[in-house]
Amino acid sequence: MFRKFAALVVLAAGVCSTVRCQTQPVDAEGHQWWQHAVFYEIYPRSFMDSNNDGIGDLNGIASKLDYLKSLGVDAIWLTPCYPSPQVDFGYDVSDYENIDPMYGTLADFDRLQQEAKKRGMRIIMDFVMNHSSDQHPWFIDSRSSRTSAKRDWYMWHDGKDSAAPNNWVSTFGGSAWTLDFKTGQYFYHYFYPQQPDLNWRNPAVKDAMFDVTRWWYNRGVAGFRLDAVDTLFEDPQLRNNPVLPGLNKFGDRNETDLYNTKLPEVHDVLRDLRKVADEHNAVLIGETWTKDVSELKQYYGEHSDELQMPMDFLFTKVDKLSPAEFRRQIATVDSAGGWPVFVVSNHDIVRSYERYGDGRNNQAIAKLMASLYLTLRGTPIMYYGEEIGMQNTDPVRKEDVKDPIGRLGWPLEKGRDGERTPMQWDDSPNAGFTRGTPWLPVSPSYRTVNVSNELNDPASILNVYRNLLQLRHQSRALLDGDYVALNENDPNVLSYLRRYKDEAVLVVLNMSSNPQDVSFDLAPQGFPTKSARTLLTTAPASKESSLSHLLLQPFAVYIGTVSK
Ligand code: NOJ
Ligand code: CA
Repeated sequence: MFRKFAALVVLAAGVCSTVRCQTQPVDAEGHQWWQHAVFYEIYPRSFMDSNNDGIGDLNGIASKLDYLKSLGVDAIWLTPCYPSPQVDFGYDVSDYENIDPMYGTLADFDRLQQEAKKRGMRIIMDFVMNHSSDQHPWFIDSRSSRTSAKRDWYMWHDGKDSAAPNNWVSTFGGSAWTLDFKTGQYFYHYFYPQQPDLNWRNPAVKDAMFDVTRWWYNRGVAGFRLDAVDTLFEDPQLRNNPVLPGLNKFGDRNETDLYNTKLPEVHDVLRDLRKVADEHNAVLIGETWTKDVSELKQYYGEHSDELQMPMDFLFTKVDKLSPAEFRRQIATVDSAGGWPVFVVSNHDIVRSYERYGDGRNNQAIAKLMASLYLTLRGTPIMYYGEEIGMQNTDPVRKEDVKDPIGRLGWPLEKGRDGERTPMQWDDSPNAGFTRGTPWLPVSPSYRTVNVSNELNDPASILNVYRNLLQLRHQSRALLDGDYVALNENDPNVLSYLRRYKDEAVLVVLNMSSNPQDVSFDLAPQGFPTKSARTLLTTAPASKESSLSHLLLQPFAVYIGTVSK
């Protein structure tokens, strides 16, 4: 065993021989730290407010590290907490190498990181690489004159026939071009006009942005979640996008983003960014909206030399509990050949509690979904509050909406406030998040749905998450085992085996509202056994369960172990 491990270390060093490569395997399979880690996304504004100004902050996060550790989190992804005018709540960065005073200071950041490290946890930052804020000194300089030193750092073009250079629309509404009256040219922005796109064809931009990542690596961060990677490059000829029938939620013409997303040049940047990451044993997670397996494959890189963890978001698009659909999605991700990443919620998507819930069995369904994505082969990325069953709490009046897309697209598009409400710590006022006025109203569910309550209830969603994560960390089969679909024609129950050498974990998920009686023959998988030893179940528990009659209540979960 030791010899095999040593050989893998040598192999890893060999792959990286041309760079100062620090990637180190953590097991005999050659897996890296991020393959064994559970990631947890924190939206800093909404997690914990330490100074009672109503906005969460870094010291607030630091005060909850013990909670995260005991939950089973290994790496925290912080959405942007850099200085920002907050037009897009931090995704408009005006200084890439600092912390916004509303979230704290660099010293607070360093302390947070040290405290996390003491507990064996890593910090991942969000890298908003497609665009900066219009208040970033680079853009202020760029827009100051046509001859400014930074003019070519952004996408400036002349209009056409007294209008924008082409028909591209912003994904946040309106034209993707804004006329700058002073210099008489248009600048391009895939998102808000306050988020001008950087010109990644300019080597100076690439150098400056790569240096940003080095700056944070040297401060100790363990990687980046790369924002909006699909949108880094645009067609140099600025060809019009094909127009589709109808209008979108903002009243703009529908079009296919053919010429302004997913250009092949993206992959050159990712390959180079990966080299820098490898020098620091760091992980790159991509916000990659892949439409099929071939796009997903490309983001891993032809030689596995791009993103280690492209998020495919497939699960976020499955909104009904269909075993067939999940089987298909899992097989798709597996067939891409890279290390799978599973995400069910984030700060841009309606919370999973809502999406999968049927309104009557939401608690059971939340436990079922946790049991699914935390036991698959791959790395899960959790979203704060998911572990207690937080629900979406959308604004009911347009005047209450904070997210600009919600004001622009109301009522069809209500914005993303609903999935960003404050974390629910206890049943005290404002759910223990702040003693001030929270920046978004706390969901009324906090009276019962909160950490403190759920810690005391052995059957709570939170305790199911804690137990699952504990299992995941202890079980070689869950960490390293392969995935084998079982009973593939069962329309109600999703079952699979995670096999590792002489042991395997059997996961059985009743996705229907009726009781189900299932049976398994695991002999073809190398386990000719008649029973499983129960590890976790939301059904009435017995230590051993017969594999010929496994009875599952509606939406129940059974996880057991079998051996040869
Ligand atoms: C994706 C982020 O997740 C989202 O919140 C943001 O608005 C856009 N990128 C623009 O940065
Ligand atoms: Ca605060």
